[in-house]
Amino acid sequence: MPSTIAAPKKVPAAEKDFLPLQGTDYIEFYVGNAKQAAHFYKTVFGFQSLAYSGPETGTKEKASYVIRQNKLTFVLTTPLRSGNAIADHIAKHGDGVKAIALKVEDATSAWEETTRRGGKSFLEPMSLNDGDGQLVISGIHTYGDTVHLFIERENYHGVFMPGFRPLESTYNPAETGLLYVDHCVGNVGWNQMNPWVKFYEDVMGFRNILSFDDKDISTEYSALMSKVMSNGNGYVKFPINEPAEGKKKSQVEEYLDFYDGEGVQHVAIATNDIVKTVTELQKRGLEFLHIPSTYYETVLDRVGDIDEDLEPLERLGILVDRDEEGYLLQIFTKPVEDRPTLFFEIIQRKGAKSFGKGNFKALFEALEREQEARGNL
Ligand code: FE2
Repeated sequence: MPSTIAAPKKVPAAEKDFLPLQGTDYIEFYVGNAKQAAHFYKTVFGFQSLAYSGPETGTKEKASYVIRQNKLTFVLTTPLRSGNAIADHIAKHGDGVKAIALKVEDATSAWEETTRRGGKSFLEPMSLNDGDGQLVISGIHTYGDTVHLFIERENYHGVFMPGFRPLESTYNPAETGLLYVDHCVGNVGWNQMNPWVKFYEDVMGFRNILSFDDKDISTEYSALMSKVMSNGNGYVKFPINEPAEGKKKSQVEEYLDFYDGEGVQHVAIATNDIVKTVTELQKRGLEFLHIPSTYYETVLDRVGDIDEDLEPLERLGILVDRDEEGYLLQIFTKPVEDRPTLFFEIIQRKGAKSFGKGNFKALFEALEREQEARGNL
C-alpha cells in the first residue's frame, strides 16, 4: 500500500450523491436494419420521428434514427459496412440494447467519479458542438457489451445532438400513451448478480432496494434471482437477474444462450392508461405473453379492490399486483426479435413502487410455455 495515500475525507456517504441522475436520456439499440426498425417502432409503439444521422449528415460508418414518444427516446443504429464494433455486436448478440444513456448535469464529473471508483471507461468526456450549442457525452461499460452513457445537454438546443438533423416523415402514426422508462432489467451470468450489484453500489452510488431469491421467483421447473438497484432520487432503476438452479432451463439461461452473453432483458415503459395503451398496441400487432383465465379467477382475492374492470384486463392479459403503497398493472410482450432475447414491459403504477412479485409465478409459467414451444425448456 502506498503510504502517501490521503486519508479519506469525512463526507458522510449518505449525504452527497456523486452521480446525480436526471433520468434516462435515451436507449440506443444496435439493429440489423435501422430504417426498418424505426418503421416498426413508429407503427407498433407509436413513436414519432425526431432525428437522423448517416451518410447524408457526414457520418460514414453508421446510420441512426432517433424516435420519441413523450419522455421516451429510442436511438436505432445500424452499421453501413462489416468489420466494425457495431457490426460485430449485431453478429454476436442480434438486435439488442447497446446503451442506456443517462441524463446528467455534468458528464465530465460523471465519468471522473465513476471511473475513479473502478468503472471501465467506454468513452472519455467529449464535447460536441454545432450552431445549436454544446453537448457533452461520456460513458462507462456495464454488464456484457452494454454501456451507460452520460449526456449533458443543458447547453444544447438542437433537435437531438450535434451530427443529427431533424427526421421528417409523411408517415406519423398516433402515439399509444407510452410515457417514459420505468426500469431496465439486465440478465447476468451464474453468480454474477452480486458482483454487478456491487458495481452499481460502488461505481454509480446506487442502492439495492429490493431482492428476490429463487423461492420468490420459481415455478415447478425453473428459477431466477433478482436484485433491484436504484439511484438516489429513484429516477433510474436497474433490476439485475441471474439464473438459479431448477429442473429445467430458466428464461435467463435461454436469454444468455441466445444473446451470447449478458445484456438488457427488458425495458419497462410507463403509461397512465394501460388498458387504452395495450388495446392500441395489440391492434397494431404487438404480441404479448398469454395469461390463462384462471389467473383472473383469484387475482382480486390477492390484490383487493382496484379501479379497473376485470374484463378488459383479462381480455388483454394485464397482470395486477399490490404492495404496501398501492397497486400496479403490468404486461409483458413476447421478444421483439427472432432470438428469444429483448422484450418490453408496459406498466401503470397506482401507488405501488415494486415490480410485480405476486405475478412472478404466473409470468414465468407463461414464459415457460413459450420456451417449450421453441424447444428451449
Ligand atoms: Fe420489469
